[in-house]
Amino acid sequence: MSYIDVEHEYKRYQTGSAEIVANNDVTFAIERGELTVILGASGAGKSTLLNIIGGMDTASDGRVVIDGRDISRANRRQLTAYRRTDVGFVFQFYNLVANLAARENVELATEIVPDALDPVEVLRMVGLEDRMNNFPAQLSGGEQQRVAIARAVAKNPKILLCDEPTGALDYRTGKQVLKILQDMCREHGATTIIVTHNAAIARIADRVIHMRDARVERIETCATPADIETVEW
Ligand SMILES: Nc1ncnc2c1ncn2[C@@H]1O[C@H](COP(=O)(O)OP(=O)(O)OP(=O)(O)O)[C@@H](O)[C@H]1O
Ligand SMILES: [Mg+2]
Repeated sequence: MSYIDVEHEYKRYQTGSAEIVANNDVTFAIERGELTVILGASGAGKSTLLNIIGGMDTASDGRVVIDGRDISRANRRQLTAYRRTDVGFVFQFYNLVANLAARENVELATEIVPDALDPVEVLRMVGLEDRMNNFPAQLSGGEQQRVAIARAVAKNPKILLCDEPTGALDYRTGKQVLKILQDMCREHGATTIIVTHNAAIARIADRVIHMRDARVERIETCATPADIETVEW
C-alpha cells in the first residue's frame, strides 16, 4: 500500500440540470516523502483533486486512502482533525489574514496542532527574519507567498498541498518559492503535491500526474529529479 492511494475517484457537480464531472475515474498512488507535480490545462480537475486529497471537499465516488485511512469515508469531525493536523495548504493567492503580522499569521496556524515548528524559525527558513512584524499589505507577492508557505510548513504537516503556488509570481520569485518547497520536501520529508500548468516545473518532481478532461492521462516517475536551480522556462 502506498502513502496516498486514490482509487477510481469521481467528483460530480450538479449545476441546474447539467452534471459536470470534474474528476472522472482518477486512480494513482504516491509514496511517502515524494514530490509530486499535477500537471494539466485549466479546467482539467486539478484543484478539485487537491481539495479532495486535503479533506476540504469530498469525492462523489471511489476511495481516497491517506496513510491507510480512507478519508472519503471519514465523518466531518475526523475530516476536520485530518485537515488541521496532517495537511498544510498553499494557495495561489496566499490567503493571509490581513490584520495579522507575518509572524502572527504563522503562529495562528501552529496554535491548532500538537507538533508545530517554531514560527520564527520557519520564517527564518523562508528568508523573512527581517519582515516578521510586517502586515501582508506591506509585503510583496513573493514575500506573502513565503509567509503562506511558512504558515503551512510550521504546522509540520505530513502532506503539503500547493495549488499554483507560483501562479501570481514573477519568474525569479516563483523559482525561489519552488526552491523552498523542494527543500521542505527533501529536508523535512513532507509528502508534497504541487499543482501547476507549467510543464517545465515537472522536472523537479519524483512523480508527474498528467490530467486532461477530468482524467489521469498518464503518470511519469523520475529517479533523479532536477534541482529547481537548473530548470529554465
Ligand atoms: N463547485 C463547483 N461547481 C460546479 N462546477 C465546478 C465546481 N468546482 C469546479 N467545477 C468545475 O470542475 C471542472 C474542474 O475544475 P478545477 O477547478 O478542478 O480545474 P483546474 O484544473 O484546477 O483548473 P485551473 O487550472 O483553471 O485552476 C471545471 O469545469 C469547473 O468549472
Ligand atoms: Mg485550479
